[in-house]
Amino acid sequence: MIEIKKVGVVGLGTMGAGIAQVSVQSGHETVGREVSEELAERGQATIERYLTRGVEKGRLSQAERDAAIARLTLTTNLSDLGDCDLVIETVLEELELKREVFAELDRVMRPDAVLATNTSALSVSEIAEATQHPERVVGMHFFNPAPVLPLVEIVRTQKSSDAAVDAAYAWAERAGKQPVRCNDTPGFIVNRILIPLLNDCVRVLDEADVRPEDMDKAMTNGAGWPMGPCALVDLIGIDVHVHASDALHGKLGEARMAPPERLVQMQAEGKLGRKSGEGFYRY
Ligand SMILES: NC(=O)c1ccc[n+]([C@@H]2O[C@H](COP(=O)([O-])OP(=O)(O)OC[C@H]3O[C@@H](n4cnc5c(N)ncnc54)[C@H](O)[C@@H]3O)[C@@H](O)[C@H]2O)c1
Repeated sequence: MIEIKKVGVVGLGTMGAGIAQVSVQSGHETVGREVSEELAERGQATIERYLTRGVEKGRLSQAERDAAIARLTLTTNLSDLGDCDLVIETVLEELELKREVFAELDRVMRPDAVLATNTSALSVSEIAEATQHPERVVGMHFFNPAPVLPLVEIVRTQKSSDAAVDAAYAWAERAGKQPVRCNDTPGFIVNRILIPLLNDCVRVLDEADVRPEDMDKAMTNGAGWPMGPCALVDLIGIDVHVHASDALHGKLGEARMAPPERLVQMQAEGKLGRKSGEGFYRY
């Protein structure tokens, strides 16, 4: 089995910062790569803020926080990831960009190092084809917020080697996560099911003339959901959900996968959920 000691994270945005935090907190030397020093420092500041909050809430000690932060180094150079055993890519959800990043990583990394993408909706196989070593490419699909949500979908393409899949799975477990294996199919497991389901909930708002508060009350009390669908879509971000719906609809073509008109309208009005201060609810 490939032993993963040093980890690279490409992109320290929402997902990248969370994944880098998971990595340093679980004892791994981690290199975070951003496109500018300013963005790299912003990513580091996010990680420091969350770890400090963890100390305040008694989840970790000050010494553990400091040790975790000391394991993170920053770079703007992909070639500085050359001695990593695993690199997780978390750049924007654009196929060409990811393919460029993978082609470059493939050139600088050892052929047995594992290359993982955190894509939600793109084909891992199409990303892997940009490399000379597609057997070492897998998907590692974390959920937002990565330090909080335990699931990681470990995605296998037709060309992924057992060694790469097993190494990614074992690392996720060591990092305290709950990995599951699946094949490279549109939406993998959770999004394949959850996206059309959330879209159904949004359509029912208009079809049955239900208020968002009542929809959430219905699904938490009637279906045992821990959080109502409107609150969940607000948390995910209307734009992120619409984008994921479009991607799934584009690949599988089922009408219920297409984003409901109501969400498209909300996005056009800048009502993006929690992050913009307004979605189904005001924040
Ligand atoms: N946000 C979520 O809920 C979520 C959940 C699971 C997976 N994902 C996936 O994770 C990935 C990142 O999403 P995010 O929400 O963290 O996005 P984000 O916008 O927070 O971060 C995007 C990152 O891409 C980098 N980037 C932008 N342009 C670049 C370029 N030209 N070259 C290299 N890097 C560039 C940015 O610097 C930043 O680090 C996407 O593939 C997304 O589908 C997101």
